Amino acid sequence: MFDRIDHVGLAVEDLDAAIALYETSFGMKLAHRETVESQGVEAVLLDVGDGHVELLRPLGEDTAVGKFLARKGPGLHHVAYAVGNIDATLEKLAATGLELIDSEPRAGIRGSRVAFLHPRSTGGVLTEIVEPAGDGETTDEGGH
Ligand code: CO
Repeated sequence: MFDRIDHVGLAVEDLDAAIALYETSFGMKLAHRETVESQGVEAVLLDVGDGHVELLRPLGEDTAVGKFLARKGPGLHHVAYAVGNIDATLEKLAATGLELIDSEPRAGIRGSRVAFLHPRSTGGVLTEIVEPAGDGETTDEGGH
């Protein structure tokens, strides 16, 4: 079903402090930074092997990540799996009865296509599937 873990998404209050931790203390390379107004986040990707850490700073308290921070504080927000064909994977997942947040893929950062599964049906873990952009090109559109 899934190719690999693409990234773990972490909710942060202080983006610069989080970048300093992952870049300086953990030695990860900052690969991408993008503000996504439609999703209410500023997102940063850091490379770790073939995968990434995705830091998410909410643009406001009334955003999804803002509400998450208010409820649970900073920390692990979601796990994202890479897939080759997100349309086909979503169809298969829906057929198993899992509750989808996104019944259709939406634009993610760096030209990817993403969809979220509801944590109610995934053991409390907000789960994202990602179809990465074909050649690593970047766009200004997207969610996380
Ligand atoms: Co993500």
